[in-house]
Amino acid sequence: MDLHSHLFRYFIALVLCLSVSLSVAAISLGSSLRASNPNQTWDSANGIFSLRFLPADSSGSSFIAGIVFTGGVPTIWSAGGGATVDASGALHFQSDGNLRLVDGSGAVVWESNTTGRGVSSAVLEDSGNLILRNSSSQAVWSSFDHPTDTIVPSQNFTVGMVLRSGQYSFNLLNIGNITLTWNGDGPNGDVVYWNHGLNTSINGSLNSPSLRLGSIGMLAVYDTRIPAGSFVAYSNDYADNGGGATFRFLRLKDDGNLEIHSVVRGSGSESVGWKAVPDKCQIFGFCGELSICSYNDTSPICSCPSANFEPVDHHDWKKGCKAKLDIRNCSSGITMLEMKNTKLLTYPKNLEVYSMQISGCQSNCRQSSACDASTAPSDGNGFCYYIPSGFIRGYQSAALPSSSFLKVCGEVLENQLESSDVSRPGGTNLKAWVLAVVVLVTLFAMIVCEAGLWWWCCRNSPKFGGMSSQYTLLEYASGAPVQFSFKELHRVTNGFKEKLGAGGFGAVYKGVLTNKTVVAVKQLEGIEQGEKQFRMEVATISSTHHLNLVRLVGFCSEGRHRLLVYELMKNGSLDSLLFKGEEGQSGKFLSWEDRFKIAAGTAKGITYLHEECRDCIIHCDIKPENILLDENLNAKVSDFGLAKLINMKDHRYRTLTSIRGTRGYLAPEWLANLPLTSKSDVFSYGMVLLEIVSGRRNFDVSAETNHKRFSLWAYEEFEKGNLIEIVDKRLVDQDIDMEQVSRVVQVGFWCIQEQPSQRPTMGKVVQMMEGVIDIERPPAPKVTSMVSATGTSTYISSNLSNFSAVETPATPASFSLSLAAADLTPGGSICEKTSSSLLHSRYDTPTSL
Ligand SMILES: *[C@@H]1O[C@H](CO)[C@@H](O)[C@H](O)[C@H]1NC(C)=O
Ligand SMILES: *[C@@H]1O[C@H](CO)[C@@H](O)[C@H](O)[C@H]1NC(C)=O
Ligand SMILES: *[C@@H]1O[C@H](CO)[C@@H](O)[C@H](O)[C@H]1NC(C)=O
Ligand SMILES: *[C@@H]1O[C@H](CO)[C@@H](O)[C@H](O)[C@H]1NC(C)=O
Ligand SMILES: *[C@@H]1O[C@H](CO)[C@@H](O)[C@H](O)[C@H]1NC(C)=O
Ligand SMILES: *[C@@H]1O[C@H](CO)[C@@H](O)[C@H](O)[C@H]1NC(C)=O
Ligand SMILES: *[C@@H]1O[C@H](CO)[C@@H](O)[C@H](O)[C@H]1NC(C)=O
Ligand SMILES: *[C@@H]1O[C@H](CO)[C@@H](O)[C@H](O)[C@H]1NC(C)=O
Ligand SMILES: *[C@@H]1O[C@H](CO)[C@@H](O)[C@H](O)[C@H]1NC(C)=O
Repeated sequence: MDLHSHLFRYFIALVLCLSVSLSVAAISLGSSLRASNPNQTWDSANGIFSLRFLPADSSGSSFIAGIVFTGGVPTIWSAGGGATVDASGALHFQSDGNLRLVDGSGAVVWESNTTGRGVSSAVLEDSGNLILRNSSSQAVWSSFDHPTDTIVPSQNFTVGMVLRSGQYSFNLLNIGNITLTWNGDGPNGDVVYWNHGLNTSINGSLNSPSLRLGSIGMLAVYDTRIPAGSFVAYSNDYADNGGGATFRFLRLKDDGNLEIHSVVRGSGSESVGWKAVPDKCQIFGFCGELSICSYNDTSPICSCPSANFEPVDHHDWKKGCKAKLDIRNCSSGITMLEMKNTKLLTYPKNLEVYSMQISGCQSNCRQSSACDASTAPSDGNGFCYYIPSGFIRGYQSAALPSSSFLKVCGEVLENQLESSDVSRPGGTNLKAWVLAVVVLVTLFAMIVCEAGLWWWCCRNSPKFGGMSSQYTLLEYASGAPVQFSFKELHRVTNGFKEKLGAGGFGAVYKGVLTNKTVVAVKQLEGIEQGEKQFRMEVATISSTHHLNLVRLVGFCSEGRHRLLVYELMKNGSLDSLLFKGEEGQSGKFLSWEDRFKIAAGTAKGITYLHEECRDCIIHCDIKPENILLDENLNAKVSDFGLAKLINMKDHRYRTLTSIRGTRGYLAPEWLANLPLTSKSDVFSYGMVLLEIVSGRRNFDVSAETNHKRFSLWAYEEFEKGNLIEIVDKRLVDQDIDMEQVSRVVQVGFWCIQEQPSQRPTMGKVVQMMEGVIDIERPPAPKVTSMVSATGTSTYISSNLSNFSAVETPATPASFSLSLAAADLTPGGSICEKTSSSLLHSRYDTPTSL
């Protein structure tokens, strides 16, 4: 019987194989496609891809020949990288085996150069790969080996291949790094503005790295030395396959960003699941020469540094600006234009670094003929960078502490309009005059109107009396955080009246912005950093965007006040919905589906912090209180990046946080004063997982748990096969997916292993939760006496040098093991780093000061 069924399977497979290979529509030598007939196509056997001519623009006079995904719009490859031909152009698969794109005039626009290599047929495979093959069916040439600007699942992007779009290119390096490069013209060459490395546990040379996009939306670098892959990114809709209808691709856009897109077959909608560079101003060359990139309320814009400059092309601000008076030929004397909160970008080769004060950075540059501009990052290192001449671009953001200086000829002339829209049309002086009058009249009318309105609606409400017009104009900008004054926040929160809670870093109050956005205002305590460092951290936090992370709306840094403004989540924090009988417990109740969604969402959020964002962040305080739920019960991790703000060298504070944060979530290495790594977050997450399943705190000890620590008791029940005992009693009469429960529980046990090196990474946790990879049976999570030690003596003293004095019976051997485990995420143990080294890691690319 067994043999029969095997034979039967073999037969079926054979039939399938045959039918597939038969249905592959080979393209024979001598065939052609013509631009004049868009209905003519070469299709893949499954009909998902087709090679055809497409209009290149709306005029209908130029065409590209490309491979398209028929379920949507995207072109995944094009002959000659988007080269266009006129309406009488054609793509010939010549009888000598060469594939050639010709213009109506007969000019060769692109060719595969496969003449004389034995090509006998071509085929568009089901994966979207166009292959020219010889008579023994070997590929001689393939479109996957010659990508244009897109990579699709099952395509291997290897060293030496390039994606190009406009002035930008994308490469994979021998060492496994992937880079985005701006290809400058001129002798200075190229500028790498994004360089993403492998995870730091992999060093040395790789054999033949390749980058692949998984069909479920995960981007990773693989090699024979890293068969499991080093993850680069997960798309926001990771593993959401829309019933198999979702098609994903990685594309280098012509604006210089690398993005993962998803198209749902037939829906016509395309969404972006991931962007390599979230902040467009960080993309090199976004604005042209001598122009400054900044954000208006919603979008990045380019503007001239001051009225001493004018745009090269009023219709295209990206072309940059030019000085009205040349500094090389200046009779009225050189002055320095000071630009606050601005850093300058240039070719790395252009730079000269000096160590000097900000004032010196300004005056010395002015006196030096070899300096056209200078910039002081003000990161506490006291550096000043000179830019000798040419190629100067700026980035301005309220969160940047840098000051920059630019030589101008004559007096500094302030900009009339603070910033100029990319698309703002130019005009003559007369037009400007008319504009000014119109603006003034409109402003006057608005003031009268507003005064009237105010009088009309607020005359009975004296507390609105102090509303400043500056504040009413404030809006939340998606790109950059808004800076609030303390007075404004005082008003927004109605005098810090409605307290939402008190987290580990300070009290949180409810507030309502003028645009009706409801926000949570967090008043930070124990911040030891200066203003500039604080702004740096705010910049890092606000540049970290993910569906499962709470969004930072703005901040306030004034005197001793340090406040952060976040979007407010309707459903509060996880603890209020999860634990029964606790103070503040609401009546709502989470079903198993909700719980699983929350657990998975949280894992994705943390994965993003650890592995995908530009400045990797260790959270250091994962617990239900820091997992917030929006109106659809989507989990959003909050308070990330804050641990860095507090001086962790200060043991007093460390102890304080340990007591404030609930100790049940702290990894053993935290209490032993060992370096914290991303694996410490994994530990805390594991505890949260068990709590999500059981609906009770992990440190609860009760009769129900045999008077044992919950996690130990849970493992015993799991061993005995009594999974249902662990599950929240309130869920028992529900229809729950026990297989999913089992997966979650096992992941939880893996996460709370004592040895950091035994815990999985968050990326792997996501995969295990989703069932993408199998889960081995977890060993018992030993909970050492360190964790259960009740005295403070275990963690008050002891830095690394005297850790042997730690009063616990745990073996030193186990410590040195966890120390040696080289699983520090990029950035290392951030929780303990001083802020200045953090700043360095953020701005260490030579091109961005
Ligand atoms: C292409 O097909 C459409 C609809 O099937 C038809 O209306 C059109 O005339 C065709 N064009 C050519 C050039 O054959
Ligand atoms: C084919 O050969 C020509 C001439 O050597 C060269 O310019 C062109 O770039 C080659 N095309 C490809 C696709 O390699
Ligand atoms: C087809 O190409 C492969 C690999 O390039 C080569 O080994 C083989 O000899 C070729 N076959 C013929 C018939 O040319
Ligand atoms: C990509 O590489 C993998 C492993 O090296 C290989 O199995 C696969 O066939 C390759 N795919 C293509 C389209 O070359
Ligand atoms: C590789 O990437 C890492 C991290 O992004 C970076 O520190 C390193 O300098 C890069 N290496 C090279 C050779 O570009
Ligand atoms: C790679 O790591 C090993 C052990 O972790 C270390 O001995 C070696 O020096 C490292 N090599 C490089 C190039 O960093
Ligand atoms: C780093 O690479 C190692 C393989 O050397 C792998 O086990 C680990 O999961 C990777 N870590 C991340 C964060 O991808
Ligand atoms: C910001 O700039 C974008 C693009 O130029 C423009 O569409 C938008 O209206 C601007 N917003 C404001 C508030 O000026
Ligand atoms: C300086 O200005 C004069 C007249 O304005 C002009 O002829 C000369 O070419 C300029 N020199 C440089 C180096 O631009």
